[in-house]
Amino acid sequence: MPTIYDRVRYPNWPNTRTHPARTGALAQLLGRKCAPFTRCRVLEIACSEGVNIASMAVGAPNSEFIGIDIAESAIARGAETIRSARLDNLKLRLADIRDEQAVEGEFDYIIAHGVYSWVAADVRAALLAMIGKKLSANGLAFISYNVFPGCRVRETIRDYLRYALRDIADPQERMAAARSALEYQMSGWSDDKPFQKALIEAAENNLERPIEVLFHDEMGEVWEPQFLTDVCAAARAQGLEYLADAHPSVLNDGLFPSVRFDAARKQTGGDWVKFEQLLDFTDMRPFRWSLFCRKAEKIERIATPDRVVGLYASADLTAAPGPGKKAFAFREKSGVEFETDDEKLGGLLDGLTREPAVQLDDYAAFPEAVEALLRLYVNSAVTLSTQPPIFTLTPAEKPLASPLARAQARRGEAVLAALNHKPVRMEDPFWNVFLQQLDGTHTHEDLAQFLLAQAGKTIEEARRMMPDALREVAGNRLLMR
Ligand SMILES: C[S@@+](CC[C@H](N)C(=O)[O-])C[C@H]1O[C@@H](n2cnc3c(N)ncnc32)[C@H](O)[C@@H]1O
Repeated sequence: MPTIYDRVRYPNWPNTRTHPARTGALAQLLGRKCAPFTRCRVLEIACSEGVNIASMAVGAPNSEFIGIDIAESAIARGAETIRSARLDNLKLRLADIRDEQAVEGEFDYIIAHGVYSWVAADVRAALLAMIGKKLSANGLAFISYNVFPGCRVRETIRDYLRYALRDIADPQERMAAARSALEYQMSGWSDDKPFQKALIEAAENNLERPIEVLFHDEMGEVWEPQFLTDVCAAARAQGLEYLADAHPSVLNDGLFPSVRFDAARKQTGGDWVKFEQLLDFTDMRPFRWSLFCRKAEKIERIATPDRVVGLYASADLTAAPGPGKKAFAFREKSGVEFETDDEKLGGLLDGLTREPAVQLDDYAAFPEAVEALLRLYVNSAVTLSTQPPIFTLTPAEKPLASPLARAQARRGEAVLAALNHKPVRMEDPFWNVFLQQLDGTHTHEDLAQFLLAQAGKTIEEARRMMPDALREVAGNRLLMR
C-alpha cells in the first residue's frame, strides 16, 4: 500500500554520524571493539532510497549491507541506483519493521536514523525488538530521535502548522501553505521576547531545509519526541545497553569531567543515562543520536591513550602561523583556531593539513598529545574513524569518481553522495556529464578532449580548464583513492 513517503519523496542523503567507521571509533574509545568496517554486516532500518547505506557500501566491498523500508517507490528508486552503481554488496528490501522475518542473520552495525519518533508505539517497539534480536555480540546500534525538552519549541511550531493547515489535505498545497504560514508568524514573533525568539530560530531552521523535510518531520501524522531515559529503558528490555551519543560533543563530560556538572554527577551517582538526561534539561537538547551495544560489563567512559591504536584522525585544517603564536597554529574549516607547542600533536595536525587522514598507532605512547587530540574530537574539530577516508584530493592518471555519485548523476540528481559520507550539491548539469567520464579509463588528455567537444573551446583552453574541473570534483570529495 502506498505510504505518505510514496506521495512526497523524502530527501535521502548520507549522514556522517551514522557511519560505522565513525561510530566504531567512538565505541573503541569507550573500550568496545566492534567488527572491522571492511568485513562486517550492516543493516539500515527505514533506509528510504538507501543513499546512506549505499554510500557506506562503496567503501567496504567485502562487507554486506542490507536496507529495509516500507515505501515501495523509495526502495524501487534506490534499487535502480544500486544496480547502476554496481554495488553488489548491498540489497534493499521492501519490508515493514513489524515483520519479524524481514531480515536473516545477525548484524555488526544496525542503523535506524530518523524513524523512531515518527512511527507509532507498536513500530517503535518492533524496531527495538528487531535490534535486540539481530545485533551481534560486539554489535553497535544507532538510533536517532527527537527528544524533549528541546522539542518543546518545535512542538509549538508543529501545533501552529497543524492548526493553520487544518483544512488543507493535498501534500503539495500543504507544503506551499506551510512556508507562507511560517513566514507570516515569523514576522509577528518578536526578537525581544525569549520564547518568540526561540520560535523564530526554529522556524528559520525549518525553512532552511527542503520543504519535504518539514512536511514529513514536523507535520507528519506521528511526531513523538522521547526522553532519553525512556528510550534507554525500552532498549534495556531488549538486552541493549546505552553506550554514548554518536555526537562526540555529548561525550565531553564523560572524558573530561567539568566543574560545571559536578552537582549533576553527584545527583546521578554514576548513572550515565540519568546524567545525560539531566544534561538534556540543562542544554534543552532537541535531538539524539544514541548508540547501543549488548549488555556487558560496566562501560568505562575514560579514553586511555592505547585506545587510539587502529584509529585514524581527519580534519579540515590549514596552517595558520603568525607572530606571537605557538610553534604550530591551525585554522579549522569553521574558522576556529588553535595552537600548540607540543611537537607530537603539532606534527599530527600538520599532517592533517596535507593528508585526508593520519593513523594514530604511533601516538598511543604520547598521552598528552592524545588527550589534546581527544579534546579537539569532542569539540568537533577532529574526527576519528576506524578506517581512513576513501577519497583522494590528488587526481590519478586515470581519475575514478565514486560509482554511487556517477549513478546518481546519471539520474540527474543535483545532490550527490560524496566519499566523505556527506551530501554535496552539484547543480550545474555539466557535472552530471563530466562525472561519467571519470570511470578510471580516461587520461587527463582524454578529459581535455572531452571538454573540447563539450564547451566548443580551443584545445589549449580545454587543457587549461581540465585541471580546474578535476580540482572541483576532488575538492568535493568525489574522487576515489
Ligand atoms: C523520515 S524518513 C527517514 C528516512 C532515512 N532514514 C533518512 O534519514 O533519510 C522515515 C522512513 O521510515 C520509513 N518507515 C516508516 N514506517 C515504517 C515501517 N513500519 N517499516 C519500515 N519503514 C518504515 C518511511 O518509509 C521513511 O522512508
